[in-house]
Amino acid sequence: MVQWTSLAAAALLANGAAAQNMLRFACSQLVVDRVDPLVNPGVRYTPHLHQIVGGNSFNLTMEPVAHDLAEKSTCTSCSFVQDLSNYWTAVMFFKAKNGSYTRVPQTGNGGPQGTLVNKGGLDIYYIPSGKVTAFKPGFRMIAGNAGNTEDSKVSKGNICHRCWTATNENTFIGGAPCSGSDTVAIPNDIKCKMIRQTIIFPTCWDGKNLDSPDHKSHVTYSGSGASGGGNCPSTHPVKLPQVMYELMWNVSTFSDKSIWPDSGPAFTYSMNLGGSAAHGDYVFGWKGDSLQKAMDKNCNLNKDCPAAGLTYQPPEKYNNCNVKQQAPEAVDGWLKAMPMGEMAIKA
Ligand SMILES: *[C@@H]1O[C@H](CO)[C@@H](O)[C@H](O)[C@H]1NC(C)=O
Ligand SMILES: *[C@@H]1O[C@H](CO)[C@@H](O)[C@H](O)[C@H]1NC(C)=O
Ligand SMILES: *[C@@H]1O[C@H](CO)[C@@H](O)[C@H](O)[C@H]1NC(C)=O
Repeated sequence: MVQWTSLAAAALLANGAAAQNMLRFACSQLVVDRVDPLVNPGVRYTPHLHQIVGGNSFNLTMEPVAHDLAEKSTCTSCSFVQDLSNYWTAVMFFKAKNGSYTRVPQTGNGGPQGTLVNKGGLDIYYIPSGKVTAFKPGFRMIAGNAGNTEDSKVSKGNICHRCWTATNENTFIGGAPCSGSDTVAIPNDIKCKMIRQTIIFPTCWDGKNLDSPDHKSHVTYSGSGASGGGNCPSTHPVKLPQVMYELMWNVSTFSDKSIWPDSGPAFTYSMNLGGSAAHGDYVFGWKGDSLQKAMDKNCNLNKDCPAAGLTYQPPEKYNNCNVKQQAPEAVDGWLKAMPMGEMAIKA
């Protein structure tokens, strides 16, 4: 069993920096909805379905700065009370032999750093490497490309999938995130009990723009993997905390091979595309300078951190922070088709 924190620490030491603590915490689903305030502001029934976590001021339109998440949200579906950010991703569907679709259930991750309890949703990491500058209010970015169909266009060191052969999320499988036998493609193998998806965001910022037309070019990667990132180039000189999303898709619900489709993949994302189109959206919304302090004061994992004023809330609290769908439609149970275009209909 390899503890990837020690791998990350080793990578940092190799870069001449000291190993640092990181935030790692659970976020439950706020809502599963066909909206995307970043790519399609104001639009209901966007091209594909998302799961959204974080602050409950999440809305169809979220104008940078004007929509002050920390001010407008009254609760968060994430573990730290001070984190009113929004994080969203596509959802994964299983396609049965009979042509019906159902969403793959999700769970929190376990492993050497402790069990994270999620009601749907994802696990979030903020990994600093050396001195980092926290995001500014209004900052947003996207990792990955929702329309990409070519695995070769994805950096496997930043966006990847792991076939989790243990039935228990606490039995750690493999090494550091996006290393070893991790793949860009979604594993399509009955041996996988869970599929762990990792989305690592860029760590270098141009220091000026809170966003950019493609929601990407104001930031850039410096290296790959979950080590916090390397030195930043002069075009994007400001070192950010490394944001990482981790999703555990519990595919053991579909362990009966006789219900798998005769041809084509059993698991796809809600764009009706595979792992090459995996993507994550991020809108910063921490209260005041709490994230900067958390990074400066070496706050660790999902624990209270008085030095930065961070307070942990238990699952009973964050599970109950929800919002209504803005594009109402069926997203649970068996569906006739993936929710794209027309409103989804139950099978
Ligand atoms: C969402 O935006 C609309 C205006 O577009 C506004 O009326 C509504 O109050 C907003 N909801 C939240 C939760 O901020
Ligand atoms: C995964 O799904 C299986 C089958 O539905 C279930 O028995 C198991 O408890 C789930 N595991 C987690 C960690 O949610
Ligand atoms: C399609 O197959 C799934 C899995 O076997 C089953 O649960 C579902 O009821 C079926 N739906 C229809 C419409 O037959």
